[in-house]
Formats: sequence, structure tokens, C-alpha cells
Amino acid sequence: MAEAAPLPSYAAIVVAAGKGQRAGQPIPKQFVLWRGKPVVRHSVEAFLANGAVPVIVVIPPDCEALAEDALRGLDGYRLVPGGATRQESVAAGLQALRPDNPERVLIHDAARPDLQRPVIEWLLQEITDHPGAIPVLPVVDSLVIDEGRTMAGTADRDVLRRVQTPQAFRYLDILDAHASWQKEPTAGDDAQVLRASGGVVRLVKGDERLAKLTFAEDFLSAPPPVRTGTGFD
Ligand code: CTP
Ligand code: MG
Repeated sequence: MAEAAPLPSYAAIVVAAGKGQRAGQPIPKQFVLWRGKPVVRHSVEAFLANGAVPVIVVIPPDCEALAEDALRGLDGYRLVPGGATRQESVAAGLQALRPDNPERVLIHDAARPDLQRPVIEWLLQEITDHPGAIPVLPVVDSLVIDEGRTMAGTADRDVLRRVQTPQAFRYLDILDAHASWQKEPTAGDDAQVLRASGGVVRLVKGDERLAKLTFAEDFLSAPPPVRTGTGFD
């Protein structure tokens, strides 16, 4: 098989500092076993296997032991305590990268464990000429506006896209954008932060496998874990 083309250098931030309340698991969902490994370990391994240096893993301040256990045996990552909101956790990850000052950074939800190389490639390619790029998918169902469980109108799905992570940025552009961001509880993702500061966000093809593990049933639908030998390999 032909060698994969080398990727440009980049750092990665995996945000894993949430509580996973909707998933209803006994521990935060990013540490639950999924396809034989803790959820967070999948993305960290994917980034390490695809050249990210370093990988910053943002975790709840009281979950250091769980995180070290989940990532045991891996090299090239650093743990950083996160904040009360996703945006605060991302900001902590961006600050932790200051000494590294990478040219590019991919910011990814730990809760999207099935990360494949092509998306990483497309994103890095797109930020050669633009400050930001995100993976998106089309909407296939009709969309309606819900007002008190009554249909109050429709929305044009042809101009709408579903947004995933990782989201890719020129590091200094997203660092600046975060610094000037007015903290709002409704803040969605980093693409919104960049765009609010005037940065162009390009759209690349997403991947259905990047669906976010959100609810308890998302954990039920995974195939049973395959465990060979000891540890997570
Ligand atoms: N996240 C984070 N810091 C927070 C909140 C969320 O790093 N304060 C991370 C989560 O760990 C997750 C990603 O952001 O990987 C997407 O968030 P979400 O799916 O909403 O996860 P949780 O906030 O943990 O789940 P819930 O909203 O159900 O509590
Ligand atoms: Mg959340």
C-alpha cells in the first residue's frame, strides 16, 4: 500500500472536561469504555497516529486519575484542567499551547471517538489559505419550527449543515478570537468564536462516524468491546 502523504505540522486539543450528564453513565462519558477503549482514548490515539504534536487533553480538574488510566501507555499528550463550559475548556487548551506556539490547531470533542485520517487531511489542507475550517454534513430530513409542539413554519434544509469536530484553525487567529470573545452561555463552538471576530470559516465534508456520543442509547448501539490481552490494545 502507498505511504500516506505527510501532513503539515499541527497541534490538537481534545476537550474532555464535561460532565456527560445526558449520557447518564456512572462516570463522565469520555472515560466510559466504547469499542473496547475509553471514549477519550480513541481520539487521542487517532491524533497521535496522524502526526499531532502535542495533543492537549482537557479534563475535569477532579478526574486526573481516570484520565491517566484511560490514556495509560500513550506518549505525546499533556493533561490540562478544563472549565465550567466547553468554551472555557477550549480556552484552557489554547493557553496551554502558548509555549508550543503551533502554526495550526485542531480542536476536537472527546465525545466523537471515531476520528479518521481523511477529515484531518481535508481540514489541514483548507487552512493553508484560510484561518478556519470545519467538517459539516447535509441535513436530509425536513425541518420545522416548533412552537409549543405546534408546527409554526419550515426552514430551508438546503442551506443548512450539521457541524462536527475537529475544527481546524490557524493557532494565533483562534487564540486572538477567544481572547476577545464576549462570554455567552449560548456560545456553540469555536467556529462561531472565530467568525464573530471576522475570521472566514471554510466548510469541508464531514463524516457520519464523527457523531457525538450524547445520550445513554448512543452507548448501547456500539458493538460489544473486543478485548485481547491486557490493557486497551
Ligand atoms: N466539554 C468540556 N468542558 C466542559 C463541557 C464540555 O471539555 N465544561 C467537552 C465534553 O467533554 C465533550 C465536548 O465538550 O467532549 C462536547 O460537549 P457535550 O457533548 O455537551 O459533553 P458534556 O457537556 O460532557 O455532556 P452533557 O452536556 O450531557 O453534560
Ligand atoms: Mg454539554
